[in-house]
Amino acid sequence: MSEQIHRLVYFSRNAMPGTEDEIVAGVRQILASSRSNNARAGVTGALLFNSGCFAQVLEGPSPAVTETFERIQWDERHSEVLVLEYAPVAARSFPDWSMSFVGADRSGQQLFGDVSVTSGFNPIHLKADQIFGTLERLVREEEKQTA
Ligand SMILES: Cc1cc2nc3c(=O)[nH]c(=O)nc-3n(C[C@H](O)[C@H](O)[C@H](O)COP(=O)(O)O)c2cc1C
Repeated sequence: MSEQIHRLVYFSRNAMPGTEDEIVAGVRQILASSRSNNARAGVTGALLFNSGCFAQVLEGPSPAVTETFERIQWDERHSEVLVLEYAPVAARSFPDWSMSFVGADRSGQQLFGDVSVTSGFNPIHLKADQIFGTLERLVREEEKQTA
């Protein structure tokens, strides 16, 4: 029997100070440790960073996802961590990515652009499906470009 996969989607605000270059370097560090830790823990997912905000999808067996999120939640590099969804799912959506990344380019802006139209940029109104669906689409697009 295969293991039940859970998906967690959250939104947070960047708390790293500094210039744009320093923040980009900070995000790279987060990605590097995410990729090695997640590969070990059997966690996959996607991280989006743009406009001073993060959105992340974590998927994997429930204990691995909650242990990973427990660490993330207390990380002082971001704040106002808001869980949008935590639920069992039929299958992983990012099976090939220990942590895929969508950066502060046009596509990333598209997500927060879309969201700001419907929510007035209030994260409390962000929909997990909206974030998840857009991340999934953007990762697929990038996969096509690099294939
Ligand atoms: C926005 C954000 C996303 C993160 N995502 C992950 C992640 O997916 N996996 C992970 O292990 N750590 C993630 N981290 C880092 C953790 O908070 C923590 O620093 C790290 O897991 C500690 O492990 P290390 O000592 O190997 O760096 C994230 C941090 C931030 C700010």
